[in-house]
Amino acid sequence: MIKEVPYNQYIAEVNKQLTSGGLFLTSKGDKVNTMVIGWGGITFFWGKPIFIVPVRLSRYTHQQIEKSNEFTVSVPMGDSLKEALRFCGSRSGRDYDKFKECNLTALPGQKVSTPIIKECSLHYECKVVYKQDMIPENLATELNQKWYPDYHTMYFGEIVACYLTGEI
Ligand SMILES: Cc1cc2nc3c(=O)[nH]c(=O)nc-3n(C[C@H](O)[C@H](O)[C@H](O)COP(=O)(O)O)c2cc1C
Repeated sequence: MIKEVPYNQYIAEVNKQLTSGGLFLTSKGDKVNTMVIGWGGITFFWGKPIFIVPVRLSRYTHQQIEKSNEFTVSVPMGDSLKEALRFCGSRSGRDYDKFKECNLTALPGQKVSTPIIKECSLHYECKVVYKQDMIPENLATELNQKWYPDYHTMYFGEIVACYLTGEI
């Protein structure tokens, strides 16, 4: 059962999971794929609710979002998806069908053609309204040295649907 919720109702829960295991970022280009993000988050921009997701250029997800211009974010709760987070956060969709490998179920999105992950409780469907490739010269030197040269594209996705499919 789908229960629509305000986009900003569970920001604290999203931030907690973001920094303690990560969120599933699902895309559909040539095929359905999911990866894990530990950075980014929900904000408000251009009068719209926005989910910012940082995706390095090397990720299969990057080429998928470039094609589809949309993505979904599914938030796992508790420890039940720990193993799936580990796998999806370290293996590429170029080499694996991660849904099959991790026994994840893709359910159709409500407002986008990218699916959500049934095994998660909270979901955000997003359409890209802006993207920005990082400009290395604009980054603080210590962060540049610590985290790069594989730079991120920041995708700003308008949250077009936010809902629960389970207990939170
Ligand atoms: C906890 C965690 C957080 C991560 N955060 C990000 C992130 O914010 N951006 C990113 O590009 N990769 C991040 N990764 C790495 C990707 O999830 C990983 O490289 C994945 O295999 C990419 O899959 P793909 O090639 O199928 O897109 C993270 C991995 C983990 C385990």
